[in-house]
Amino acid sequence: MAVKIYHGDILFTPAADRMEIHENSYIIVEDGVVSQICEKIPETYNGVEVVDYGDKLIIPAFSDLHVHGAQYVQRGIGMDCLLSDWLNHYTFPQESRFQSMEYAKNCYDAFVDEMILHGTFHANVFATIHRDATNYLFDKMEEKGMYGYVGKVNMDCNSPEFLIETTEESLNETEKYLAAHEGSKKVKTILAPRFAPTCSEKLITGLGKLAEKYHCGVHTHLVESIWEAQEALKLFPGYGSDAEIYERAGLMDHGPSIFAHVIFPSEEDKRIMKKHGSISVHCPDATVNIIAGIMPLQQMASEDLKIAIGSDLAGGHGLAIYRQVARAVQLSKLKEFYEPNESKTITITQAFYHATKEAGSVFGKVGSFETGYAFNALVIDNMEDQWTKISAQEKLERFCYTGDDRNIRARYIDGELLK
Ligand code: GUN
Ligand code: FE
Repeated sequence: MAVKIYHGDILFTPAADRMEIHENSYIIVEDGVVSQICEKIPETYNGVEVVDYGDKLIIPAFSDLHVHGAQYVQRGIGMDCLLSDWLNHYTFPQESRFQSMEYAKNCYDAFVDEMILHGTFHANVFATIHRDATNYLFDKMEEKGMYGYVGKVNMDCNSPEFLIETTEESLNETEKYLAAHEGSKKVKTILAPRFAPTCSEKLITGLGKLAEKYHCGVHTHLVESIWEAQEALKLFPGYGSDAEIYERAGLMDHGPSIFAHVIFPSEEDKRIMKKHGSISVHCPDATVNIIAGIMPLQQMASEDLKIAIGSDLAGGHGLAIYRQVARAVQLSKLKEFYEPNESKTITITQAFYHATKEAGSVFGKVGSFETGYAFNALVIDNMEDQWTKISAQEKLERFCYTGDDRNIRARYIDGELLK
C-alpha cells in the first residue's frame, strides 16, 4: 500500500455548520484516500515520508456543479445583457463555432487547464450540441484525472437555425455519445437538455428513455429567471412546475439531478427536488451578471434541499469557485436586506461546505477529509501579513475573498501531486 503523510493546518467542513480545523497536524493518506488526521504520527507509520507544509492550509479541492466549458472564450463579454439577449446575441452564435474541432480543442484545452489551476477537480459541465467536440471535452477531463459529468447539450426548438437539432438528430446523437462512454469511471455522461424553452416535450420524453437505458442523470437550468419560469410553463401547458417537466419524463430516476440557479422555486419544484434528492446550484456571479434575482439559499437549505456552488462560466465571468464561496455570503446578505422573509445570511463555513462536501457528493467521496475520502486537496499559502497572525479559518476566508491561483501552492488528485 502506498502511504503518504502531509503536515499543515488542515481544514474541511463535515457539515454545513461545522468547520473542522486541525492546526499543526498530520493527514495520513493510503492509496490516495484519507485514512486519519492526527497531531502525532502513530508508530506504525515510522519511516513513512512526511511532506511538511508548515502552517500552510490543506483544504479539500472544489467542485463546480454548473459550468459551460464552451463559453470559456466569451468570459467577461456581454455582461450588460440579461439572459435572453445574452443567449441570442453572444452565446448561441459563439457555441455554433464548436462545429469546428480546431476551435473546440483550443477552447476546451484552455478551459480544463484553468479549472485545475483554480483548484476545481470535480465539475459538472455543459458542452454544446456537437457530439465530436463534447467527446473531446470528456476525454480531456479524463486525461487530466478530473472527476466529472459532461453533457452533450440538447436543443430542438426556439433556437437559431445555426444552433438547433431536429428531435431525432438530438436523440440519436445523444445516444451515440452515451454509448461511447459506457463504463467510464471518474468522468461520466449526463443528459443536458439546455432548458425547457429550447426543448420539445418529445425530446424530453426521449431523453427520459435514454436515462433509463444508460443509467444517467440530468443537468439543466431550472426556474432561473422569471422569464424562463413563465416560458417553461407556457411551452409545457399540462405541467404544474418546471421540475415536473423532468420528473414526468423519468429524468430524475437514474442518476443525479442537478439544477442550475433555482432562483424562483415553487413549492412544487421544491417538493419534486426533495423527493429525488436533487441538488440546486447557486451561481452567484451569473446571478449578478445575467439574471435578476437571488437564490433563497438559506431557506432552501433549511428545508433540507441540497445546494452546491457553480461558476456558470460564462454567465459567471471567472472559474474560481473559492470566489463564488465569498460571493454566496455577500449575496445572502443582500437577499436578507431586501427580502428578509425570503432567506437569511449564510456563514463562510456553510458556503464552503456547499462548494466542497455537498457539491462533491455527486461524484462520490470527494470534498472532505473524513476517513475514506479521496485526497483531492489544495495547499494554500501566503494569506497572512508578516507582522500579524490570523487563525487558520481566517486564512481560508481571506483566500476565498482575496486569493487567486498564485496562492495555491500544491494540488493533489487521488493523492497524486499535479505537476
Ligand atoms: N439558460 C439557457 N442557456 C443558458 C446558458 O448558457 N447559461 C445560463 N446561465 N443560463 C442558460
Ligand atoms: Fe448556465
